Order: sequence, then C-alpha cells, then structure tokens
Amino acid sequence: MSKKSTVPSLDFYQNNSNIKWVVLVASVLISISSIYYTNILVDQLKDRERQQVQLYAKAIEYTANDEGTGDVNFIAQEILFQNNSIPIIQVSDSNKVLSSRNVDVDDTWSEKKRNSFLKQEMQIMRETYEPIKVTLRDPQTGEVFGTQFIYYKNSFLLKQLIAYPYIQLSVIAIFGFIAYLAFNYSKAAEQNRVWVGLAKETAHQLGTPLSSLMAWVEVLRDDPDMKHKGTVEELEKDIQKLRIVTERFSSIGSIPTLKKENIVSLINNVVNYLRPRVSSRVRMEVFTLSENIFANVHAPLFEWVIENLSKNAVDAMGNSGLIAIKVLRGNEGKIFIDISDTGKGIPRSKIDQVFRPGFTTKKRGWGLGLTLAKRIIETYHDGKIFVKSSEENLGTTFRIVLNAA
Ligand SMILES: Nc1ncnc2c1ncn2[C@@H]1O[C@H](COP(=O)(O)OP(=O)(O)O)[C@@H](O)[C@H]1O
Ligand SMILES: [Mg+2]
Repeated sequence: MSKKSTVPSLDFYQNNSNIKWVVLVASVLISISSIYYTNILVDQLKDRERQQVQLYAKAIEYTANDEGTGDVNFIAQEILFQNNSIPIIQVSDSNKVLSSRNVDVDDTWSEKKRNSFLKQEMQIMRETYEPIKVTLRDPQTGEVFGTQFIYYKNSFLLKQLIAYPYIQLSVIAIFGFIAYLAFNYSKAAEQNRVWVGLAKETAHQLGTPLSSLMAWVEVLRDDPDMKHKGTVEELEKDIQKLRIVTERFSSIGSIPTLKKENIVSLINNVVNYLRPRVSSRVRMEVFTLSENIFANVHAPLFEWVIENLSKNAVDAMGNSGLIAIKVLRGNEGKIFIDISDTGKGIPRSKIDQVFRPGFTTKKRGWGLGLTLAKRIIETYHDGKIFVKSSEENLGTTFRIVLNAA
C-alpha cells in the first residue's frame, strides 16, 4: 500500500533494488553457463586423453609382440613418444613398475624413494581412472604370455581447464565486490553531504527570522499598554519550540557532542510536551524501575527520536489507544527503550522497509522520520533501533538500544 511518491529522487531506492536483482540473476546465469560450457570441453578432453592412453597401450602391445617388423615398431615408438602430457605408469601383472612417463620423478632419487613415490602416484591414478589392460601375445602362436596395466591421470592441461572457470569467476567476483563497495561508499558519502547540507541550510535560514521574532516578543513584553499578556506567553512558547527545531536541524548537520543525560527525564519531557497535543483518548505512559538511568546523548536529537516514534505510534492508532514507553537497564551496560503502541501494526513484508528513506503509507507522509531516527541513534549515538515486534491490528514495539553512561 506504499504511497506513490511525488518526489522522484525517493523512487530511486525502489528501482535500485530491482537493478540489484537483475545484476545478481545475470551474474548467476553467466557463471552457470561458463562452468557448464567448460565442463563440456573438459569431458571432450577427458575422452580424448583416454583414447590417447588406449592408443599408447596398443602401441606397447605391438612393440612387445611384433619384434621383427620395423615399420610397425617405428609407428608404435612414435605413438609412445608423442604422449608428452598425460602422466602414465606401466606396471606388470605382479604390480611391478615397468616404466613411467610425464610423472615427476627425479633422477637423483634412490631406487627405493623412486619406487615408493611411483606407488603413491599409482594409487592416485587408480582412484581417478580404471587402468587400461595390455595383453602380450606371442606373434607366431598368438598365445598370451603376459598382461600389463597402464595407469594414468589427467594431464596438466586438463587440470588447468577444470580449475579455470572457478579461478576466473572468483577473480571477477572479488573485483565486482570491491567495485560494489566503492560505489556504495561514494553513494553513502554523497547522501551524507546532502543530508548535512540541507539540515545546516534549514537551521541557518530559520535562525534569522527567529532572532528577530525573539526581539519582537521582548518589545511586546516591555509594552506597558499590552493587553494580551497571555498571547505573549503563548508566542514565547512557540518561539521556544521553533528554537528547539532549529537546534535539531543544526545538530544533525554537524557532529553533535554527547553529554551524560538522564534518559527518563528526557523521555518525560517529550511525553509531557506531546500529551496535551494528542487526542485525549490516546494515553501515554512511561514505565521504568528507576528514575535515574543515564546515557551519553545529545538531548535535542534524542528527544526528536522519541517524538518521532511517538507521533508514528499516534498515527498508527487512529483515535484511541495506549503508547507505553518502557525504559530498562539491560546487561552489559545497555539501556533498552521500548516504545509500544496498540495501533494497526506493520505487515511482516514491510518491516524491513520502514527505515528506508521515502517509505511511507501516509497520505501526507515523507517517510523520513524513521530514517532520521536511525541515523541519530546509530550514527551519532552508536546505538541500535529496530522493530522489536509487530502484530497486525494489535500493535508495534520499536526498541532503541543505547550504551549506559
Ligand atoms: N508504530 C507504527 N505502527 C505502524 N506502522 C508504523 C509505525 N511506525 C512507522 N510505521 C510505518 O513506517 C512508515 C514510515 O514511517 P516514518 O519514517 O516515520 O515516515 P512517515 O511517518 O512520514 O510515514 C509509516 O508510514 C508507517 O507505515
Ligand atoms: Mg513519521
């Protein structure tokens, strides 16, 4: 039910999250197809390597069987030496290593070391592929006089091809992640400058008419003929309120200095200010076990947050209900402030969005109250603010967590 915003810049957040999904889905598709395609290549190369080893086995059979004919022998030798990439170990049927090719054995190794190394390699090869059987026959009688086995494993080229898409995708992912962080950082920095600039400018512009209003009130107060003393007092109260608003804007535009304050009395200030201004059927109560709970806060900004949350609570309740503000000391030096209402609640699917700039369900809402509250609590006070619970048509509880002083 989110209101169609008339402010184009606020819609940006909605589009932005769609773009994120598109990018995410596209990258997953590209990754999957890249891995799939490389797998096809790997399978083809595997087939080819097996054929090569089979040919190698045949060549061994020929050279062993056909001692006389030089031609066949020559071709067979050619085949044997053509293989310069697939690691191969040739063993007798009693498992004795007869020869090896493309296996990294060092000539300086002792016989024993060499043999145990080759045995190990053989084990690895046995786990990778079924060995190829070589049958040795007597060329005259055709009688079988021995069998041998050719063990082999993937060539270095094939190993690289298997690993390649993963290495490539990881590099791209790392690069993409860094680019994303950089982009986000610069976006956040820009948003910050806009916030700060706008707030400072507002405070600045309010300042001039405000000091002149204060001067005018002084003039009225000093006038002995002034008949409306009550009016002047009301005027002063409103000016006081305007000064607070100005101070809030000017504080959010600079890094506010925190002071040790009594949280309970700050909350009571806000509640006492709001109580006469909301419907008489909305009750506002503050509950606490101690009247002395202290935290380092910037009083005007903290009061602003409480006011914002209370106003939202009032809006959620329509005409009547209870706003309960509980202040409690948690363990590990934390202070919890729970603001509960008996209003309409927030639908589960919207809970994640309420702190986003521009999210509002109100006709005249700007959707900035909670964004500001989050910024004030988390950026300036190193605290936390979140929806603790919300039940549709039953009510909502927002929780603020501060560090105790
Ligand atoms: N106590 C609450 N109960 C129900 N919904 C709430 C409550 N507080 C905030 N919301 C929802 O979050 C939205 C954003 O709140 P806010 O940032 O203060 O902007 P605005 O008050 O201008 O709409 C509100 O429009 C409302 O839908
Ligand atoms: Mg609001």
